[in-house]
Amino acid sequence: MVNTVMRIGILGTGDMAAGLGSGWRAAGYEVLAGGRSGPVALDAAGRFGDVVLLAVPAAAAVEVLAHVPPARIVIDCTNDVTPGFGVGHPYAEIVAARPDLAVVKGFNLCHESVWRLPSRVFGGRALAVPLCGPPDAVEAVRPLVTALGCTPVDAGGPERAALLEATAAFAIGLWFAGVDAQAVLQPLHVDGATTVPAGR
Ligand SMILES: NC(=O)c1ccc[n+]([C@@H]2O[C@H](COP(=O)([O-])OP(=O)(O)OC[C@H]3O[C@@H](n4cnc5c(N)ncnc54)[C@H](OP(=O)(O)O)[C@@H]3O)[C@@H](O)[C@H]2O)c1
Repeated sequence: MVNTVMRIGILGTGDMAAGLGSGWRAAGYEVLAGGRSGPVALDAAGRFGDVVLLAVPAAAAVEVLAHVPPARIVIDCTNDVTPGFGVGHPYAEIVAARPDLAVVKGFNLCHESVWRLPSRVFGGRALAVPLCGPPDAVEAVRPLVTALGCTPVDAGGPERAALLEATAAFAIGLWFAGVDAQAVLQPLHVDGATTVPAGR
């Protein structure tokens, strides 16, 4: 497991690759994005990174991971959402196909345009980015969240990744329906007092 991530490989050259990649470059990381067309091959990007961001459609995820050498940390931001029909679980398919990788689910809740904004502080608070995966890998990915001006949230182990995928499906549905996802959950504090039941 790497201690300090400096090089980030990105599989895919689309919107998520561009948004997250430019933010990490601006924060001082070396970033190499590769695709099936274009100047950098998937293989070069897969080998480049201490961490590899998987930024392709969920249906292509397992196939594209063939370009990642064994035992790397992979960030899986894929969503498999069919409007009106439900949600697939690409994380489980990825882990089943490549058990040698340390896969962290994250960066899948917000639209790609968020990563192109000059700031991710909304209403005075930095955007929180939940991460699910093996604890060592989550630890390695946390600075990549901080580098984008966001707050990493340890959202649990690999078994919780499916919840993050379902949450994305729900949040995307709200977003397209014009409902503010931040408005549907109770706040942590009301009038300065915690809303968490005593003893929790
Ligand atoms: N867009 C969002 O707001 C958003 C937010 C959260 C999560 N996500 C997830 O992030 C992932 C990437 O989304 P995106 O918006 O960046 O998509 P995108 O702009 O459509 O880019 C997809 C990339 O994947 C490549 N690709 C597609 N099929 C491939 C295959 N069979 N083999 C190799 N490369 C392939 C494309 O290559 P070509 O250019 O050659 O087609 C392109 O580089 C998706 O899983 C999506 O669900 C997206």
